[in-house]
Amino acid sequence: MSTSGVEHRQAGPAESAHANRTWWDAEARAYQDEHGAFLGDADLLWCPEGLREDAAHLLGDVAGRDVLEVGCGAAQGARWLVRAGARVAAFDVSMGQLREARRLDARSGTAVPRLVQADGQRMPFRDGAFDVVASAFGAVPFVADSAGLMREAFRVLRPGGRWVFSVTHPLRWVFADDPGPAGLVVRQSYFDRTPYVEVDDTGTATYVEHHRTLGDRVRELVAAGFVLRDVVEPEWPAGHEAEWGQWSPLRGRLVPGTAVFVAERP
Ligand SMILES: C[S@@+](CC[C@H](N)C(=O)[O-])C[C@H]1O[C@@H](n2cnc3c(N)ncnc32)[C@H](O)[C@@H]1O
Repeated sequence: MSTSGVEHRQAGPAESAHANRTWWDAEARAYQDEHGAFLGDADLLWCPEGLREDAAHLLGDVAGRDVLEVGCGAAQGARWLVRAGARVAAFDVSMGQLREARRLDARSGTAVPRLVQADGQRMPFRDGAFDVVASAFGAVPFVADSAGLMREAFRVLRPGGRWVFSVTHPLRWVFADDPGPAGLVVRQSYFDRTPYVEVDDTGTATYVEHHRTLGDRVRELVAAGFVLRDVVEPEWPAGHEAEWGQWSPLRGRLVPGTAVFVAERP
């Protein structure tokens, strides 16, 4: 299933999950080879701007807490949580990414105790199982039913629990995915929620991203029952010259690239 074009069209929950599972299965090793050094084997990196949980403390004290990582990739964040003393479960839709997770378990000497293959739109965990749910660019930007994912995060949290997730800053939707000057020119409406869909020769989706405006994200959280505590927009740090896909120093100094939502289940 190789990508031959890009479309802007609807893509439902099942089609999006299938396309992204297949894409991440195929790309898992190359992704880890490209970004693994910056991610670290056992580190919770929130975004290409370089904000790490060690410094950000967005999850609160995790020692002795039940913590779930959503869309964990190779579970670098989950491994950091294990080392911080949390009881950790992590899941991802892609078996390729989970295989990378087991490879990094062996390499780092820190194993994630519960690694599960699942779709973020249906989390296979019981109600109120966790104190903290976290996701660094995992699942949320890729699912058609992000309101449903918010409800799932709420369901698996205990009262007083915290849900923290990072996504591409909604403002980036208006620009081309280009780290250079071309990525500073507005080319589509911020208000157009039509998904970005890569397709193969037969028109089958091979990769899907879903856009929500800032207001959409807030409304989905509130509708699920959350209280929103913060929206962190990490600034591009001086001296940070590394590019990551469309994230670059040039754009990062002018336009936010990431939004991190911090919400609580009352
Ligand atoms: C950019 S990676 C983020 C993982 C990790 N935090 C990192 O930075 O490498 C996105 C992850 O989301 C996962 N993902 C995509 N759609 C998903 C879904 N519907 N449910 C669960 N995980 C999903 C992908 O398989 C991938 O591992």
